Amino acid sequence: MDKIIISGGNPLYGNVSISGMKNAALPVICACILNKETCIIDNIPPISDIETLLMILSSMGADVKMLTKNSVQINCRNIIPGSSPNELASKLRGSSYILGAELGRFGKSSVYSPGGCSIGPRPLDLHMKAFEALGAHCSHRNGRIEITTDSYLKGNSIFFDKVSVGATVNTILASVLADGVTIIDNAAREPHIVDLAVFLNACGANIIGAGTSVIKIKGVSKLHGCRYSIIPDMIEAGTYMAAVAATGGKVTVRNVIPKHLEAISIKLEEAGVNIITGSDYITVESTGKLKGISLTTGPYPGFATDMQPQFSAMLCFAEGASDIHEQVFDNRFQYTDELAKMGADIKVSANHSIIRGGSPMTGAPLVCRDLRAGAAMVIAALASEGTSELLEIDKIERGYYKITEKFASLGADIKLVSDISSAQINRSASI
Ligand code: UD1
Repeated sequence: MDKIIISGGNPLYGNVSISGMKNAALPVICACILNKETCIIDNIPPISDIETLLMILSSMGADVKMLTKNSVQINCRNIIPGSSPNELASKLRGSSYILGAELGRFGKSSVYSPGGCSIGPRPLDLHMKAFEALGAHCSHRNGRIEITTDSYLKGNSIFFDKVSVGATVNTILASVLADGVTIIDNAAREPHIVDLAVFLNACGANIIGAGTSVIKIKGVSKLHGCRYSIIPDMIEAGTYMAAVAATGGKVTVRNVIPKHLEAISIKLEEAGVNIITGSDYITVESTGKLKGISLTTGPYPGFATDMQPQFSAMLCFAEGASDIHEQVFDNRFQYTDELAKMGADIKVSANHSIIRGGSPMTGAPLVCRDLRAGAAMVIAALASEGTSELLEIDKIERGYYKITEKFASLGADIKLVSDISSAQINRSASI
């Protein structure tokens, strides 16, 4: 397995360009299933979750061509519903969006239980509730979720008693071609929900209200092709911002939508970091005095749960105590055991942690428990004294494009080490 080796202690300086957003690209790519014409999607991040999803579409019969490393041309005219392979679907959470898209186009779907980060229970009950409200029947068979309809999908009013990004995406996908009007109440308001709606409307859909908690979808008879560019990844941007706060230095994150980063910027300012906001960039400057803060995660526009581990790592280097309340997922503090190996003082109780920052932190062998936990390990290692060896970095590669090169360009002592011995074994096995 590959590893990342980091010798910490260098402050970060310079500019870093942010890639397209993973969690926007996944639903937009799945939305192509609804369309018999060709779509070109630009600014997709060349990360493993996107590669896996494109492999799933290809294996289902879609014509998928990479035009550049960031642009893909997709035609789903000949896609076969229910043919997504189990082993690929189980690798990522975003494969659940195939359910809504297949159901919307073909009136039926079958997908293996989706994978994704292990951060607590991730049920699909709200997705199923929405599909059933549109007239579908949902069941499980041989590990696959099976969805059928007796006749056709009919628009309906759906209230979610919990805000869910995935259920909002799947309801939009299933209702775009349904008969009549669908209203989603208590919808997720994340920027990636807006990106999906803007993309679908560019293809001829009729969706209003995305970005608010009530979304109205008037079914249309078909979609047409379009060319669309994915929004920048606010979580990737936030990760670099938190890293600069932890290590010290001054970095400009470029190609971002600053509005999407408001909750992150406000919390960094509260922790004593200078933030300068431009039209499509944010400069983060350390004042050398990082202080503890309180933080509660929540749906957008709240503080993103996907930034909680990175902020916790950063707050290990702050003077005083920090209080972290995780309100979205039930098991998102597993990474704290790894930080404790480095000397961090963190007490976890249920969905709450208290970090007493400022104790000396030293490098250690660190396991990346999931995608954002892996990003937290990078931040902790960059800001600690000594050398850390990060293992299971495939979890980081699911969501961060060239993370080692990007941090190295900011002055970090970080390198990706390929496991030559296993590469040699594989090569000799194939000769
Ligand atoms: C998406 C993101 C993930 C992010 C999360 C919250 C993708 C591919 N993943 O995950 O990175 O951390 O949003 O911003 O975009 N829930 C239910 N029943 C359901 C669905 C969800 O109880 O049917 C619960 C979940 O267990 C969780 C909460 O609702 O406690 C929010 O989950 P949700 O917004 O659906 O997250 P995902 O779409 O899985």
